[in-house]
Amino acid sequence: MDWGMRNRIGRMFRPHSGRTVMLAVDHGYFMGPTHHLENAGATLGPLLPHCDAIALTRGILRTSVPPTAGVPIILRVSGGVTVLHEDLSDEAITTPIKEALRLNASAVAMSVFVGAPKEHQTLTALGQLVTEGEDTGMPVMAITAVGKELDKRDQRYLSLACRVSAELGAHLVKTYYCDGFSRVVDGCPVPVVVAGGPKLDSIEAALRLAHDAVEAGAAGVDMGRNIWQSDRPVGMLKALAAIIHESATVPEALDVLQETEAARSPTTSAGTQPQANV
Ligand code: 5RP
Repeated sequence: MDWGMRNRIGRMFRPHSGRTVMLAVDHGYFMGPTHHLENAGATLGPLLPHCDAIALTRGILRTSVPPTAGVPIILRVSGGVTVLHEDLSDEAITTPIKEALRLNASAVAMSVFVGAPKEHQTLTALGQLVTEGEDTGMPVMAITAVGKELDKRDQRYLSLACRVSAELGAHLVKTYYCDGFSRVVDGCPVPVVVAGGPKLDSIEAALRLAHDAVEAGAAGVDMGRNIWQSDRPVGMLKALAAIIHESATVPEALDVLQETEAARSPTTSAGTQPQANV
């Protein structure tokens, strides 16, 4: 692997753990002003120092992230349909690699829709993007999206989607957690990170997902809604970092979250304990 490619990948993973806490804020490209991302800059500002990379589009990067933030960028480069479209798999490359280079991105990311109507279109686009990524030293993260068919998130389907993505040359794969997740990781020769999906019932459930995913071999998370739709997003990021980088248990991570929140709002902690949304 070329030096530039290794350097870019190295920026997103902490050396001592070899893992990463990526913050996903790329939802607006097909969902519009998602709850808590209406003003992306305001939501993101306090979170940037606490994640290892952020995943977003060029529009939100340019409008909502200061160039001096110093956080590695995973630039989403696919899109072209919205939630109003019947077939979410009908995506194409919307942002060229030269834009990722101009923006000093650490990686580009695109969705592939295995088994969907536009499977061929998205998989061949992945192959082409990897070729351009190899030419320019730009890592490519494949996102195994499932469109509107949420029932596809089982181990056999996700193993297939991740492996196919790696076979086509993806340098990283983002997928969903599922029962039997270690088989997904074992069948994928490149690092796998997990998305959180829609907000779960509790903070504990989201931390449990991250914990079980890294126990099963994931290289970290690329999580969005369970962080920035939480009422304690900084605490969530620190708790996730404890799990992912320090191998904390879920109760230990919840302690980190409570300590973070107590330090951020001492009045609350001195009076009534914050109700753990766990
Ligand atoms: C949107 C994405 C998201 O980045 C991915 O789903 C992670 O975010 P969340 O944890 O909210 O699911 O790929 O298309």
